[in-house]
Amino acid sequence: MRVLRRPEELASALPKSGVGFVPTMGYLHAGHLALVRRARAENPFVAVSIFVNPLQFGPSEDYDRYPRDEARDLAMLEAEEVDLVFLPTPEALYPEGFATYVEVTGPLVERFEGAHRPGHFRGVTTVVAKLFHLFRPERAYFGEKDYQQLAVIRRMVGDLHFPLEVVGVPTVREPDGLALSSRNVYLTPEHRKEATKLYRALLAAREAARRGAPVAEAEAAAKEILDTIPDFRLDYFAIVHPGTLEPLRAWVPGARAMVAGRFPEVRLIDNLEVYP
Ligand code: PAF
Repeated sequence: MRVLRRPEELASALPKSGVGFVPTMGYLHAGHLALVRRARAENPFVAVSIFVNPLQFGPSEDYDRYPRDEARDLAMLEAEEVDLVFLPTPEALYPEGFATYVEVTGPLVERFEGAHRPGHFRGVTTVVAKLFHLFRPERAYFGEKDYQQLAVIRRMVGDLHFPLEVVGVPTVREPDGLALSSRNVYLTPEHRKEATKLYRALLAAREAARRGAPVAEAEAAAKEILDTIPDFRLDYFAIVHPGTLEPLRAWVPGARAMVAGRFPEVRLIDNLEVYP
């Protein structure tokens, strides 16, 4: 496994084709490994980037304290037989004078995470577009856990004609249902237990859909559970179209429930397909 830190080293280290690429912010967990394993199964060459991207964090967000453990991450990736890991510094990707951004516009980025984290998606699409240029992958792998991010990246890839396939990989969960996230380490033991109610709320919406309840009733069933979480401020719960993320009044195939909210120490998001 090669470990490179400078963008200019990549071109000669990468094959001309057959690259499966997994962009990450490190502090890897089983959710990241699911992306890496899928990439390993589908591509002759697997490249992973580890970069905590300052551009996608707001001024009051957790950039400085975002968990990092380079040695552990590299050991995990070596065990997965990854071919190349890219670990740039912020200065290497955003040198003095950097002034070019990639931005998807419109409702897809303005609602949900976009409304609660201004500038977040601009930071994501800028870094992902830069990484796509550097890696020229045939396939790129993203978790469905960040469902809106996945939709925004698909939009950017289509709009800018990036010649690659975006592969969405299902969310990996703890045995009690909590979606894996690098930020789960922030949760207090009490809030860690309560956090499972996000998934239970999503399941309640799916259950309501299965018994033929209307969308509004499914939303109400989920919110009833979310309302019982102490110290939790709900940012949104919505049932949306799986492609446009437009809130729904009536069921469509693949309808997705999305939830986000904050405990004092950490913000959590999750989502689930609730209507087949
Ligand atoms: O999902 C993430 O970890 C990040 O948003 C990504 C895609 C690596 C861009 O920094």
